[in-house]
Amino acid sequence: MSYHRLVILTGAGISAESGVPTFRADDGLWMGHRVEDVATPEAFARDPAVVQDFYNQRRRQLSTVHPNAAHQALAELAARWEGDFLLVTQNVDDLHDRAHAAVPPAPGFQLIHMHGELLKACCTRTGRVCDWPGDLAAAEPSPHHPQGRLRPHIVWFGEMPLSLDRIEAALARCDLFVAIGTSGAVWPAAGFVQLARRAGARTMEINLEPTPGRRLFDEGVYGPATETVPAFVAGLNV
Ligand code: OAD
Repeated sequence: MSYHRLVILTGAGISAESGVPTFRADDGLWMGHRVEDVATPEAFARDPAVVQDFYNQRRRQLSTVHPNAAHQALAELAARWEGDFLLVTQNVDDLHDRAHAAVPPAPGFQLIHMHGELLKACCTRTGRVCDWPGDLAAAEPSPHHPQGRLRPHIVWFGEMPLSLDRIEAALARCDLFVAIGTSGAVWPAAGFVQLARRAGARTMEINLEPTPGRRLFDEGVYGPATETVPAFVAGLNV
């Protein structure tokens, strides 16, 4: 079977072997932090220093990690894929971006960071987004508005994920949907498989182990992403 319109959703599991902690593992990113204290608009209003510091640490950690064989395999696929290919990541790291920068993608490729990006900041007054590779101070002045502050360009709990219109349009016409390294615990990403099924797409989950949503997928492939993702890409024969 050959496919022409591919949507791949990635989660923290694809970056785990690069050394970026996942969220829900016992030693995961939320361990030691209550989500309400670091990942909500209310937390930022209450104690911006704690929230900025949490993301400053995550941002600094990016300079110590590198794309792994799974990111690289998807970048090579994006370079060769002749149809549409939407890569949607829930990850706020820049490991997909770095892998694709090394192997320029074909014209039908798009990458969406639906939960934002650690290396960007956003003006609290205008919503304008800018590159921000360093630390953010508790009350970092915004270059875009005299009364604005900069906050991490991260979608917090209670906020709307980014580019949902484009994602849903691609899901409505895809013929292959693959979820890689995501627990399926967070909506709306957890519902993407159902939208793809409705479009008649073949659906596959690639994970270390079956997730609670396994029955929603036609197929499951299990093992470390650095092994399973290159094997999946090789099996597509493009
Ligand atoms: P989770 O931490 O919930 O799930 C990570 C998944 O990766 C699990 O299903 C693991 O089994 C799998 N995994 C771990 N190591 C792996 C490996 N080496 N190879 C393959 N799979 C592996 O992370 P997400 O599903 O990405 O949102 O979490 C979704 C969202 O929840 C995040 O984007 C974040 C969080 O709250 C926001 O911050 C808005």
